[in-house]
Amino acid sequence: MPDDRVGIGIVGSRFEADVLAAAIAMGRHGRAVAVASPTPGNAERLAGRYGIERSYLDYRQLLDDPAVELVAIAAPNHLHCEIAVAAAGAGRHVAVEKPMAMTLAECDEMIEACDRAGVHCLYAEQLVFTPKYRRAKEMADQGAFGEVFLVKQTEMHSGPHADWFWDVEKSGGGVFMDMGCHGMAFCHWFLGRPDPIAITAHMGTHVHGEKTRGEDHSLALIEFAGGAIGQVENSWARFGGMDDRIEVYGSEGMTYGNLQMGNALPTYSEHGYGYAGEKAPGTGGWSYPVYEELWNYGFPQEMDHFARCVRGLEEPRVTGRDGRLVQELLFAGYQAAGTGARVPLPFDPGPTARPIDLWFSPLQ
Ligand SMILES: NC(=O)c1ccc[n+]([C@@H]2O[C@H](COP(=O)([O-])OP(=O)(O)OC[C@H]3O[C@@H](n4cnc5c(N)ncnc54)[C@H](O)[C@@H]3O)[C@@H](O)[C@H]2O)c1
Repeated sequence: MPDDRVGIGIVGSRFEADVLAAAIAMGRHGRAVAVASPTPGNAERLAGRYGIERSYLDYRQLLDDPAVELVAIAAPNHLHCEIAVAAAGAGRHVAVEKPMAMTLAECDEMIEACDRAGVHCLYAEQLVFTPKYRRAKEMADQGAFGEVFLVKQTEMHSGPHADWFWDVEKSGGGVFMDMGCHGMAFCHWFLGRPDPIAITAHMGTHVHGEKTRGEDHSLALIEFAGGAIGQVENSWARFGGMDDRIEVYGSEGMTYGNLQMGNALPTYSEHGYGYAGEKAPGTGGWSYPVYEELWNYGFPQEMDHFARCVRGLEEPRVTGRDGRLVQELLFAGYQAAGTGARVPLPFDPGPTARPIDLWFSPLQ
């Protein structure tokens, strides 16, 4: 039987590229056929680990690979736009990691390039695919909680694994840019995509001021049309491994979800063992080993869905237009934290180069 799986080229070869390669291998509709990354040996090693046929040092070579139908962009944020526009120009579908880009103009350029080429501009927000969170939304949509008036999404850990995250020139901001984008996309999707009407936010740099001018803790409240509130809290200043959770409150009920400790085996070990979970500090003493980590996050489901979209079997559940809205909320959130004001939406940041430029740390 012919292999009808969608050929996926991964740009980037480290943390998220590894997640995507593993996730694609768990699905049925996509196949990683190539990987590109500029550091000699890295793409080759990733390819070796997952049986990917070709590796390249320059992503442009990957775009010329005839087997690549969908380009999954897992490179630093400041490169997303350049790579996405080049991929669309080469007639390839695009799946871009969060946050979508650095500016609204870049988001528009990416969407327009994909529209012009007649390819999908997919936004890789896996929380829309997270099984536990999807179950909570299914219950909310069935009326389990009455009128939902508050959705909280929290994602915290002790700080990123790669240097570029700390450099706002490459990342565009601190933890709000890095993980607030998840929470805002989640709340918007969970509530049925109502228009956001205003945002208030508070940010601070409490632990990592030596390393970055970005914020390492952030709290934002988004008011949506219809009256519901999204609360998004993020931290790079929270020790003890990754914490990703939601709370949903309605007029007739509520639910809580927790992707790490709530899905883990509470464990005590004198000697430790291999791996507990993302950014867990160790495995000796008390720890909370997760299982089926990628599946519980929704990465395989996300990549399989994207492959099915490329084959025309499904309509995209999350696109560049969602990524663009999140980008606007990022700018508005930094503006709110910088000024202490409630910022109405839509918000035009003007020619601001990076979301974080609208905020500065009072601690620096
Ligand atoms: N969805 C999620 O939960 C999630 C998790 C982690 C990271 N991400 C996103 O994925 C992206 C990558 O983050 P990461 O954690 O993998 O970072 P990383 O530093 O671990 O990996 C970045 C990769 O990009 C490569 N790269 C750098 N310059 C390049 C270029 N010019 N062309 C091609 N590749 C280049 C690097 O060599 C490296 O392989 C970021 O946008 C990040 O926000 C998403």
